[in-house]
Amino acid sequence: MCGIVGYIGQREAYPIILKGLKRLEYRGYDSAGVALIGNNKLNVYKKKGKVAELEEYAVGKDVHANIGIGHTRWATHGEPSDRNAHPHISNNGAFALIHNGIIENYVLIKQELVKKGYTFKSDTDSEVLLNFIEDIKKNNNCTLEEALRIALKRVVGAYCILLIDVNDPTTIIAARKGSPLVIGIGKNEHFLASDASPIIEYTKEVVYVNDYEIAIVKSDELILKNLGNEKQTPYITKLDMDLAEIEKGGYEHFMLKEINEQPDSIYDCLRGRLLLHDGKIVMSGIEQNIEILKNAPRIIIVACGTSWHAGLIAEYVFEELCRTPVEVEYASEFRYRNPVIHKGDVIIAISQSGETADTLVALESAKEKGAFIFGVVNAVGSSIARLSHAGAYTHAGPEIGVASTKAFTGQLTVLIMMALKIGYAKATITHERYIQLMKDLESVPEKVKEILKDTTNIQHIANKYKDASDFLFLGRGYNFPIALEGALKLKEISYIHAEGYPAAEMKHGPIALVEEKLPVLFVATKDSYYQKIVSNVQEIKARKGKVIAVATADDNVIPNMANDVMFVPDADEIIAPLLSVIPLQLLSYYVGIAKGYDVDKPRNLAKSVTVE
Ligand code: M6R
Repeated sequence: MCGIVGYIGQREAYPIILKGLKRLEYRGYDSAGVALIGNNKLNVYKKKGKVAELEEYAVGKDVHANIGIGHTRWATHGEPSDRNAHPHISNNGAFALIHNGIIENYVLIKQELVKKGYTFKSDTDSEVLLNFIEDIKKNNNCTLEEALRIALKRVVGAYCILLIDVNDPTTIIAARKGSPLVIGIGKNEHFLASDASPIIEYTKEVVYVNDYEIAIVKSDELILKNLGNEKQTPYITKLDMDLAEIEKGGYEHFMLKEINEQPDSIYDCLRGRLLLHDGKIVMSGIEQNIEILKNAPRIIIVACGTSWHAGLIAEYVFEELCRTPVEVEYASEFRYRNPVIHKGDVIIAISQSGETADTLVALESAKEKGAFIFGVVNAVGSSIARLSHAGAYTHAGPEIGVASTKAFTGQLTVLIMMALKIGYAKATITHERYIQLMKDLESVPEKVKEILKDTTNIQHIANKYKDASDFLFLGRGYNFPIALEGALKLKEISYIHAEGYPAAEMKHGPIALVEEKLPVLFVATKDSYYQKIVSNVQEIKARKGKVIAVATADDNVIPNMANDVMFVPDADEIIAPLLSVIPLQLLSYYVGIAKGYDVDKPRNLAKSVTVE
């Protein structure tokens, strides 16, 4: 949540910050703002709404500066408005601050400050933190860096902050705990951002700042310290990412681009790992820990949202192929119910961003309890990737659209390969089945391409049902989590109320909703549940519900029963979710477009949810 950018160097800071904010807009788009120091003056411009509105507002204003910070907000404390937009200015008018995170004890601190005569222009916790720093600096007659250090020892919560002082235009001070911060190292210049996307076009050398670190950033110097004021050695990493990967490349929306990238992203995920000729799956994170993974009495999968759906499918796959009991947990619930973790339990954390606060906090506490953490993460170098004992990247490339698409299929691909590799090592699957599933997995990119070749039928279905007020998504077995995922996609992109359910469970309640206006989407590919799902379709038809089906290409039963059908190529039931999800991603995209919504930035959402 919230994107932050900073620049210090010889160039004009404003255009760099503005461009960076546009790249980070997926993290929040309730308001945007910049603070610049030029000619010994602090200029702050901020506006409710998207970065484009800030850009328009700043036209003709003084934006000349070689140092500046910028923020794009996902509101937590205080409604989206001009006055709650960041940067905030301290009471003495000298300091400007941007913040990503939540200060949980801000009310107490605010009360103390109000008693001392401080006034507040916004309802945010961030402005409280800033004035707290000002107050500490005044009372202790210390440097701003020292005041920040003292303040951070008292605050409870999560933060990534950037702080500048009009009296010192040579320094940006930054700090992080729980919210990400990357610093790009240029020649006589530094770039700061929530992720590498605003930095990549200027430099590939970056430092990922760790929790509880403070960075003192000048154009020609980067000093990292811990909260005990001890210097830390910055660890420089080379970015493995291209600018083209984070641009739309001719597509109207990132979401459509990312859906269409799936043949390549799945292929990239398999590349170098799935070696069919040698009958081998190469995944170093697994090889190095094979005994732990083979002997785990239990696997607990922890994730949120779409990543949680990938985890649900993995539960079926791991239990089938590895015969290890699996539990799938919402990270936010897992963390706060004091879960029982036994010696040897393995936690698989699934996350696209690697920064989701609920997942991160859940993992921290599981790690403290001695669990082995295996991360399935997309964002290289992210917090979850670094916190894990071992892991496998999904290699889907940057995912910018708020709705997760290619990251999901990347997660499934990695999880299926993991289960195959562990199951084979445990001898819980036969050699024949192992090879057959490898073959099926290898054919997925081509099959996804086939689905994407012609989407006119899906567009037609989207237009036909776009005005429905509710949708029911049903599936069984491996396709049940796909029904949940289809419902989530439709909700977030088109704002249509949608529920996902196991198809057989429908008769225990939701069937009461069925009437002729209700579209019921069945994920009904040919698998071991097929005959059962045919009966479930009949049950809906008998009650006059409108049936839309995702069916296997050669099926001639379901298409005769359904009002509308989207076909996918045949595949083993373990592999089928990688295909059956694609029409559902497209359906939600086209419904969102037909309704005129901003599919890349759906209301109230943010790509990376870094608050608990
Ligand atoms: O980055 P993560 O995978 O940890 O994010 C988890 C969820 O916030 C995410 O999947 C969310 O549900 C997406 N908007 C779904 O499209």
